[in-house]
Amino acid sequence: MEKPHVYITRNIPKAIEILSGSCNVTMHKGKAIPSKKEVIKNIRDKDGLLCVLSDAIDSEVIDAAKKLKVISSYSVGYDHIDIAAATGRGISVTYTPEVLTETTADLAFALILAVARRIAEADALVRRGKWQTGWKYDFMLGSDVNGKVLGIIGLGRIGSAVAKRARGFNMKVLYYNRNRLPIEKEDQLRVEYRSFDDLLKESDFVSIHLPLGNDTFHLINEQKLGLMKSTSYLINTARGSIVDEKALMRALREKWIAGAALDVFEKEPVSRSNQLLKMKNVVLAPHIGSASKETREKMAEVAAINLLNVLNGKRPIYIVNPETLSH
Ligand code: DGY
Repeated sequence: MEKPHVYITRNIPKAIEILSGSCNVTMHKGKAIPSKKEVIKNIRDKDGLLCVLSDAIDSEVIDAAKKLKVISSYSVGYDHIDIAAATGRGISVTYTPEVLTETTADLAFALILAVARRIAEADALVRRGKWQTGWKYDFMLGSDVNGKVLGIIGLGRIGSAVAKRARGFNMKVLYYNRNRLPIEKEDQLRVEYRSFDDLLKESDFVSIHLPLGNDTFHLINEQKLGLMKSTSYLINTARGSIVDEKALMRALREKWIAGAALDVFEKEPVSRSNQLLKMKNVVLAPHIGSASKETREKMAEVAAINLLNVLNGKRPIYIVNPETLSH
């Protein structure tokens, strides 16, 4: 029997190694992101696609793939894939949660510390030779993290892992979810439920851990930013479009809030003219939530196994649209 044909949109060695054993693998070459035209051309005759979060797998791409059975995303988020279009065609969509939970929570906490204690600003200052006065009592003062109030929007896997870290810093942890957790679970995580608005009003740090969808697009807008304390910080390691970036810029410029730490943006990569790049009270990272060597290796393994399982008629480890499995 002929081996199935798979297209992989990036050079992810571990995934290629696993897939090559039983598939004919075509890999996108070169450093540039493959264009939509290129993806369409390459998946026309493929059985499987392994993609990453910066590949827009919309209905046009999906329609072009006449034999496709599985789209395996090397990510926990799947807002870059038209799930309805895939499901309509009976194509399974798989993803890689869990393996990146702790690593992404580490980054969220690193950003909390970095923005509160002005670490990026301090590093840049030392490197530029601007540390001229030695130790000074009022130099580079930031804000404490320990003992403060952390508000988590979306207490799923990553949000809960951030809450766990906050306990080590003696923080009070509030959370907002569409559905409140059972009291026993709240007690176990040592978190308190608040309405969305109350969480924004009470928190010193607000950290976003929601997927992007129609219901979360620009969830943090001018009105919501206006509720936050002038001494508070916004942290986003989820998806850029959950925050209305223009509204955030206004809030930062006009000091409605003290600062922001962002790993994700409305448009990635961020353009050099983005005003956020000029703001001192902002820490910026290039979407590196899951970027540790260990985690990226595990994600590659899970993404490859997910894909192979669907092609072999087995249940993948993580699937977005299980209803496709009966096809
Ligand atoms: C994902 O995998 O969706 C995350 O954004 C990783 O940082």
